[in-house]
Amino acid sequence: MSKPGAKTIFVCQQCGKEELKWLGRCPNCEEWNSFVETTVAPTTSFKSTSPVNPPQELSQVAIEAAGRFSLPMTEFNRVLGGGLVPASLILISGDPGIGKSTLLLQVSALVAQARGKVVYVSGEETLHQIKLRAERLGIKGENLYLLAETDLEIILSQIEGLSPSLVVIDSIQAVYLPELDTAPGSITQVRECTMRLMHWAKLSAVPLFIVGHVTKDGAIAGPRVLEHIVDAVLYFEGEPFSAYRLLRCVKNRFGSTNEIGVFEMKEQGLVEVDNPSKAFLSQRLGEAVGSAVVPVLEGSRPLLVEIQALTNPTSFGLPRRTVNGVDFNRLLLITAVLTKRIGLKLGNQDIMVNVAGGLKIGEPAADLGISLAIASSFRDVAVDPELAAVGEIGLSGELRAVSQLDRRVNEAARLGFKRCLVPKISAKISAPRGIDLIPVSTLREAIGVGLVRGKAS
Ligand SMILES: Nc1ncnc2c1ncn2[C@@H]1O[C@H](COP(=O)(O)OP(=O)(O)O)[C@@H](O)[C@H]1O
Ligand SMILES: [Mg+2]
Ligand SMILES: [Zn+2]
Repeated sequence: MSKPGAKTIFVCQQCGKEELKWLGRCPNCEEWNSFVETTVAPTTSFKSTSPVNPPQELSQVAIEAAGRFSLPMTEFNRVLGGGLVPASLILISGDPGIGKSTLLLQVSALVAQARGKVVYVSGEETLHQIKLRAERLGIKGENLYLLAETDLEIILSQIEGLSPSLVVIDSIQAVYLPELDTAPGSITQVRECTMRLMHWAKLSAVPLFIVGHVTKDGAIAGPRVLEHIVDAVLYFEGEPFSAYRLLRCVKNRFGSTNEIGVFEMKEQGLVEVDNPSKAFLSQRLGEAVGSAVVPVLEGSRPLLVEIQALTNPTSFGLPRRTVNGVDFNRLLLITAVLTKRIGLKLGNQDIMVNVAGGLKIGEPAADLGISLAIASSFRDVAVDPELAAVGEIGLSGELRAVSQLDRRVNEAARLGFKRCLVPKISAKISAPRGIDLIPVSTLREAIGVGLVRGKAS
């Protein structure tokens, strides 16, 4: 039953685009079959209840002194740019099962201990299920209030009386506003609920976490549309087969982005990894064929990662290229350069490249490491086990400059590497103690130095 004055529109469940008629493909995000008929009342959105704000002279604007407070969790703090800002709305999104509820329950317990009441609202699990998880995580739960509810009106009225120091909504797809005509999880619901929560956070000055599931299924609105509304967006990611989880900040109105925190999923919950380079390299065999170590930068943080490659003669059909954690097109470029400039006959080889530990590398600075790993596997000669390598590769096989070389080299030195291949063009740094810089200007030179000598074929 539509309300008087209500009209019908079609809303893309992927990106929120509104159209007057149904379309098979969204002109905005190009998703197929994403439009759902939605009835909208003449005024769907709530109106601000705060009094009219007159303009204020900048010099008179008070700095909110009760600034951010730091969470008793170093990795989480780093990602948030130093702590939690009051009245901020933070979206944590990630695949189902990655550990969002676990992480937020742990954070809730820590904040409850340090700052007083925290309300954890779950629209997906019963109190009993949450209690079982809490037991496993060793959380007793003083000051931690649980609410299993999906009606956002009720949730807000319940929270109101408690004046909490933090609220968690798990998840935004599970809650709904009864005044809207659409189902929980639809884009209209998800967007309106987020706006309502944003408004509430600003009025009450309470920080708020909302969980958003990432899913390809068009029936459930992706959290992408929410990213414009919220103050900060964190991605919680990791490979299903790896215990490592990365918390990555992709938007932050109160600090820098692209910082990452590293966690490990264990029986007792998520454990902070304070020396991720060491953790990522922990399973590395000393002198292994097809393995190279690269210092990459995640935000301002240098991390050493192991890149593994395996080449194998193609047995049937076209040679295959498979990547895990590196960009597929980057692999194609590197393979082309290795074939054309170095003369490796990779045209009839399957190539697999993998980043150990489940990290995803987006930087071209890892090119040289990927090349070394492939060349090592193809020639069946190990990469020097005490060597790290960094450099972007150009189409002529030249090594191009990388940013923040000193941080990368320092991290390699800290982890005990003795040599680091660096692009000659950006090698004007002084090496820290214990590590030698090996400036190289071409990939050919680098491969000559990087593979264990004496055995090269
Ligand atoms: N008894 C258990 N012991 C160890 N790990 C568990 C246990 N139960 C669940 N987990 C881990 O917790 C994950 C679920 O985490 P959860 O926080 O519910 O994810 P999300 O909220 O992102 O969907 C599972 O994928 C599993 O790895
Ligand atoms: Mg969950
Ligand atoms: Zn769309």
